[in-house]
Amino acid sequence: MACLPIIEYPDPRLRQCSEPVAIFDAELGQLVDDLIETLHATKAIGLSAPQANVFSQVLVTDLSGNASDPQVYINPEILAKSVPGLVEESCLSVPGVVGNVVRATQIRIRAQDRAGEIFERNLEGMHAVCVQHEMDHLVGKLFVDRLSLFRRLRLRASAARAHSSGAA
Ligand code: NI
Repeated sequence: MACLPIIEYPDPRLRQCSEPVAIFDAELGQLVDDLIETLHATKAIGLSAPQANVFSQVLVTDLSGNASDPQVYINPEILAKSVPGLVEESCLSVPGVVGNVVRATQIRIRAQDRAGEIFERNLEGMHAVCVQHEMDHLVGKLFVDRLSLFRRLRLRASAARAHSSGAA
């Protein structure tokens, strides 16, 4: 197992779309294990493969707060959504930014596990929000795209300043 480096905004790789997983082999299993280890090391609640520079439709979550409930969603698709609510989000790839975005607070999802088995599940609350956030990464979207224009412009300006001053 290995902890993977996380790509950070405004790196253009975060805009790349990820490919569906077709082969459920040991290499995929290794990726899933590495994503879970990275998720737990960073104490985040969700992580997608493209954030770790792997452009496959894989995401992991753990909402337990004590690293005891890692969940894996491969080739996820949302089957149904509740009415949306306003929720506060942050992202490992956009350090230091917290913002309110609109998300469905209940979803029904279909995905595959690491063995390729298809499953369907109802998700609620932060789990539903987290999976939608990570699914955005699979199509090159970031939660900051969903913030107000004013917040986005300020964010872009501060990212450009950090870049020109050589900050990481
Ligand atoms: Ni994120």
